[in-house]
Amino acid sequence: MPAIPTTSGTGAETTFVTVISRYEDEIWKKYLYIHRGLIPTYAIVDPIFPSGMPPKLTADTAFDALAHSIEGIGSQWRNEFSNALALKAIELIFKYLPIAFKDGKNQEARDYLHQAATIAGLSFGNSQVHIGHTLGHSFGSLFHVPHGRSVGIVLKYVTQFIMNDPNSDEAIKIYSKLAKQLGWVKWDEDDKNASLEVIKRIEELAKEVNFPISLKETGVSKEEFEKSIDTLIDLCYQDASSTLTPRSVSDEEFRKLYRYAYDGKDIDF
Ligand SMILES: [Fe+2]
Repeated sequence: MPAIPTTSGTGAETTFVTVISRYEDEIWKKYLYIHRGLIPTYAIVDPIFPSGMPPKLTADTAFDALAHSIEGIGSQWRNEFSNALALKAIELIFKYLPIAFKDGKNQEARDYLHQAATIAGLSFGNSQVHIGHTLGHSFGSLFHVPHGRSVGIVLKYVTQFIMNDPNSDEAIKIYSKLAKQLGWVKWDEDDKNASLEVIKRIEELAKEVNFPISLKETGVSKEEFEKSIDTLIDLCYQDASSTLTPRSVSDEEFRKLYRYAYDGKDIDF
């Protein structure tokens, strides 16, 4: 079975995962299906296919690939293969997304962004993602927000959450190393400061490509959001992505994560 990606985001041409939306119990739900048979035999990764994407879709899909990479290096299944691939994908996305966003006809940027999405797919196909995709799937399915936009918005907040783990400084070390490997900070920078640079860079990239940084910017009203918060949490518990989170999440923490991400408030717990 061949696969031809027509956006630069999902990496589905490399993985054994698919997501299907189903209308059930009077709401839309997203179900993850995993099977070896879903791994394509080969993929045609040609930038001609995504080159017609408008800027907004370019940013949405690239933020999905970014979420695959940044969540993946924090996931419990991270390993040397997935880490190396994620590092390359992140480097390419930061370099080429702003160019492809401003000039969709730039073939070099389209090519590298398209490769980045596939590389990110190879990475998270091995490491998987974690609660960013859990929060994003639930919010996206309930409010019909595109996948890349919802997981891209919550990426910053879930990364802050795992870096704030009171029982482990592992995530701080992981993201500090990432910032150093990408040349964002000096090698002798303090780990905490270096890890915070990752958050700063995500915010800067979002700003550069007009990507929302809070869930309220998706147009969902506060009233509608608060009315649905219990359903959102229920959906989170039905989402398999959270299994590999490096910091377990309580019901109350899911609720707070959503509220902070909705208001655009930095995670302080
Ligand atoms: Fe995704």
